[in-house]
Amino acid sequence: MFKESLLKGKRILVTGGGSGLGKEMASEYAELGAEVYICGRRQSVLDDTVSEVTNNGGKIKAYACDIRVSEAVNDMIETIWSDGGPLTGLVNNAAGNFISPTKDLSPKGFEAISNIVFRGSFYVTHACGTRWITDGVKGSVISILTTWIWNGSPFTVPSAMSKAGVNIMTKSLAAEWGHYGIRLNAIAPGPFPTKGAWERLSPGQDTDDESGSSGIPMGRNGEMQELRNLAVFLMADGCDYLTGQTIAIDGAAHLASGGNFYQGLHKLTDDDWDGIREMIRSTSDADKAKRSV
Ligand code: HXC
Repeated sequence: MFKESLLKGKRILVTGGGSGLGKEMASEYAELGAEVYICGRRQSVLDDTVSEVTNNGGKIKAYACDIRVSEAVNDMIETIWSDGGPLTGLVNNAAGNFISPTKDLSPKGFEAISNIVFRGSFYVTHACGTRWITDGVKGSVISILTTWIWNGSPFTVPSAMSKAGVNIMTKSLAAEWGHYGIRLNAIAPGPFPTKGAWERLSPGQDTDDESGSSGIPMGRNGEMQELRNLAVFLMADGCDYLTGQTIAIDGAAHLASGGNFYQGLHKLTDDDWDGIREMIRSTSDADKAKRSV
């Protein structure tokens, strides 16, 4: 879809770029000539992605960083700036989420998600934005949201609240920083199944199971290349006047059937939820065992 080397000269950080949607976008940017940085909490996962992208001829480096910690974010951004100059782009992709009845959430459960999505996205955006303003760089930010920012999402309330906040950050800073040439846009994907998300949002369902796609007018889940293309379009030169926008890429799911978890989950019993909680916890424990920060 795009000419080779479209992103040559771009230096882009993708948070949570070691896996899932972040890995897809990071790989695509590298394939199109950008120097890519990724960060995440699991060094081995980051290392695997670095090897894969490097073997395909891409330029990529990784930093272990928990974006919930503002000092760690600042150190990472400082290191990247020293490594070869300013970033030109940032993708706020790192997220945390799990389905749960809101009545069963503890304050710590709320914080586990909101500190990654709501606070972490701000910390990274602020660390890049302040440097872009000082350096006179026309940086570009893309945040990965969901369509729930428009109609809410029962059973994933901390995520819905946090992503709605990042949507408003996108619009606010597009206006506040527009005169510096800094752009902020967002992508609201529908179902693009990934292991990390599905284990927490549809536990027990395979990522290639399309049985839930009856509420999607296009009749199918999203294909990664479609998301990769939109992430490139928004990051490339040539749409400099496009800012402050959140673009849904969901086959019209949220327009037709809400695009959230109400239909699938509102009839579950407390016993059902006990089982789901255990499945999600075992996923989280396995991931936690690999964390290096
Ligand atoms: C209720 C739960 C719970 C569950 C955890 N908690 N899982 N509560 N139901 N299933 C509670 C714990 O009991 C604890 O509170 C608190 O949350 C913190 O738990 P930790 O496991 O210690 O948290 P932490 O290690 O910080 O891990 C954060 C996480 C984890 C969000 C819980 O899942 C994570 O790291 N996820 C990253 C990857 C991810 O989530 N990817 C999916 C993104 S999908 P107490 O009070 O007991 O101490 C997405 C949207 C996709 O963003 C859109 C698709 C359409």
